[in-house]
Amino acid sequence: MIACNWKVYVDNYLEGYHIPIAHPGLMKEIDYANYRTDTYRYYSQQFAPIRAMQPEDASERLYAPSTGVQEALYFWVFPNLMLNIYPDNISTNVIVPLSHEKTLTIFEWFFHEVAAEKNQERIKRSVAFSDEVQQEDIGLCEQVQRGWRSSTYDRGRYSVKRENGVHHFHMLLNEFLGRP
Ligand SMILES: [Fe+2]
Repeated sequence: MIACNWKVYVDNYLEGYHIPIAHPGLMKEIDYANYRTDTYRYYSQQFAPIRAMQPEDASERLYAPSTGVQEALYFWVFPNLMLNIYPDNISTNVIVPLSHEKTLTIFEWFFHEVAAEKNQERIKRSVAFSDEVQQEDIGLCEQVQRGWRSSTYDRGRYSVKRENGVHHFHMLLNEFLGRP
């Protein structure tokens, strides 16, 4: 459970802008310069190519490609379903608003050959990696929620390059919640 409004959590999910600062582990895995978000009528897709291996991070990398192009894909389906697609697993995340300032996130992971002994270590590492990113996002979201109580700050501007997915979400909210 997270101490923020569900929309704060979705906002955070829909932009990669915060990755260089908030997610050092994830930043090592992806090619940030080529990260992009494409929006469709009721969903959006974030595309993050997996970064080529660097000599200095040989032992630390989880998703370093050996051959061919690999990518991480993050799908969001309006209003509250997220699909995270990595080279070796898929996870789903359903966002459940519990109250104005409380949100439940329900993750489920899907791997190939979960019973095989040789995959156990890999699965553990992938789930731990996902949990690390999630914990970093929880910290951000709870700080943003506290920021909403500010008496002096109202709102910022969208980054056209990095926050088009957030803007798309807000347009859908306005369409469905803005009616009298
Ligand atoms: Fe994040």
